[in-house]
Amino acid sequence: MITPDQFKDKSILISGGTSGINLGIAKVFAGMGANVAVFGRDPEKAKAAAAEVEAVGGGRSLGLAADVRVPDAVGEVVNDTVTAFGPLDVVIAGAAGNFPAPAIDISPKGFKTVVDIDLLGTYNVFRLGFDHRNKDGSSFIAITAPQAVNPTLFQVHVCAAKAGINMLVKSLALEWGQAKVRVNGISPGPIANTEGMRRLAPTPEMEERARNSNPLKRYGEAEEIGHMAAFLSSPAAGYVNGTILNCDGGTELGDASADTQTSWRG
Ligand code: COA
Ligand code: NAP
Repeated sequence: MITPDQFKDKSILISGGTSGINLGIAKVFAGMGANVAVFGRDPEKAKAAAAEVEAVGGGRSLGLAADVRVPDAVGEVVNDTVTAFGPLDVVIAGAAGNFPAPAIDISPKGFKTVVDIDLLGTYNVFRLGFDHRNKDGSSFIAITAPQAVNPTLFQVHVCAAKAGINMLVKSLALEWGQAKVRVNGISPGPIANTEGMRRLAPTPEMEERARNSNPLKRYGEAEEIGHMAAFLSSPAAGYVNGTILNCDGGTELGDASADTQTSWRG
């Protein structure tokens, strides 16, 4: 069971929590009473995001700046969060980078950039967060993507990075369960009003095609990912460890466009 003030006085850190899906997640936790620190590279954006989170009216919020590729910088953010809010009850690794491009147009530096932000960045946030976890029990969540399991055109770097994240989640869950850390992943489908979808479906036609290919015929909302993260971090999910939960309207099942289902008469 999840109560309205389930996360009152809890200490939560979210990488990439300064915009989009991760900011939506921050607001859901704040609405349930949590103290939430969000961080990205841009300090001004982080401060504005923290103000938005605090305006939800739950606990306090901190807007911090660090690049997830730089362990020392992530360590400072972890320290600042623990100093302000106490040992970490929830750690969410959501920072990511994406640009659609054919594999032959992605340079080694471009490939490395995405793998470093997504995969190495998730590792850094989890590894440094682990040292400052609440030892009575904590929830670590990685934000992955359907590209982790669906080979996707023009997404070779993201497919590789997110597949790595899925295996990171499972490997750490296996090792850290005995330290009372549950490690899980959430795989969002296409989410409305996000940078990710602005990049992947930049024209109205592409957006319409993306909506239509989803079994539910709509984009998801950041808040829906937040509810999934809240569930995973609550006692209701106390025995859930090492799993990747899809919150994608069925994206991973395949293309549900009407023109691929000519015999459907429902
Ligand atoms: N096509 C091909 N290669 C590209 C590219 C594109 N559209 N955009 C970037 N790259 C490659 C280039 O090789 C570049 O190297 P170069 O400087 O030699 O040209 C390399 O990526 C690094 O780019 P840079 O801009 O220096 O990296 P960064 O660390 O400042 O930014 C990105 C990282 C590229 C992922 C940037 O898009 C970003 O900051 N994204 C965050 C927001 C986001 O992606 N949101 C959606 C999340 S799903
Ligand atoms: P977004 O708004 O661009 O969020 C990315 C966040 O990460 C921002 O806060 C950004 O802030 C931060 N960030 C980027 N690079 C960073 C770095 N090197 N170090 C620290 N922070 C960094 O994107 P979004 O579309 O909401 O996506 C959020 C997450 O959901 C990502 O993990 C993405 O892969 C996943 N996802 C998205 C969708 C979708 O429909 N959008 C679908 C499936 C999965 P700064 O720029 O200030 O650093």
